[in-house]
Amino acid sequence: MKKRTISILLAAMLVLSMTACGNSKDQEEQSNVTAQGSEEETQETTDTSAEEGNQNAASAQGGSNMLVAYFTYAENADLPDGVDASSSASIQTWNDEMTGNTGAVAHMISEATGADLFSIQTVEKYPDSYDATVDQGQEEESADARPELATHIENLDSYDTIFLGFPNWWGDMPMAMYSFLDEYDLSGKTIVPFVTSGGSGFSGSISEIESMESGATVQEGLALRDSGAMDAQNDVNEWLEGLGYLQ
Ligand SMILES: Cc1cc2nc3c(=O)[nH]c(=O)nc-3n(C[C@H](O)[C@H](O)[C@H](O)COP(=O)(O)O)c2cc1C
Repeated sequence: MKKRTISILLAAMLVLSMTACGNSKDQEEQSNVTAQGSEEETQETTDTSAEEGNQNAASAQGGSNMLVAYFTYAENADLPDGVDASSSASIQTWNDEMTGNTGAVAHMISEATGADLFSIQTVEKYPDSYDATVDQGQEEESADARPELATHIENLDSYDTIFLGFPNWWGDMPMAMYSFLDEYDLSGKTIVPFVTSGGSGFSGSISEIESMESGATVQEGLALRDSGAMDAQNDVNEWLEGLGYLQ
């Protein structure tokens, strides 16, 4: 009797443990299905966003026959996190992205005309101190330096109008602009220059551009004060309208 009871109990335990095993396998299978399902869902989402990304890339590269190429200090320095317009008169934000005075004006032109944007950037970053950058700019100008560029236009043929923007550095263009103008032959294209400065305006840079790009047509430029660059949208639009770039 005692033996029978033990056998029954053992048999019951065996059945119970098999049932338990069966349940945990079901759960594993179930969780595998869920995992696969969510993997597929993630893959689908990734594929969709990749497609969206490609569409964005396509329109960014091929959307316009106009390009805004610009140099601005803040996109050419390794600035510490958290630095903002209060740290330097040359640091601005546009659509949450850090840029400088000239960069902000470049964005205004791009938004008003649909022109693509190209940030001219050097391989060697400028100092994170603005004062040290002022000194380095002077040294580069005295040495007639040609800082190596890190960014390059892949599809110059697509553009027939180049808005060309830069800050005035020591009564001249930053030497990176000379590197840029050395690199590209803009013959047959229209160059529309713009500058931001503490008050010097273009200085002699328009005739410099004309002589370096003698095959291009250089149109009337726009000179803006650094202190008013962020509020320059009306001036920018009037200038663009006068040149026929606004509908
Ligand atoms: C190296 C250097 C030299 C400068 N030299 C002049 C100058 O000669 N005349 C002037 O009006 N502003 C000068 N500035 C001021 C800048 O032109 C002005 O702040 C400009 O808006 C900066 O543009 P960004 O923020 O796009 O770099 C100089 C700034 C730097 C960094």
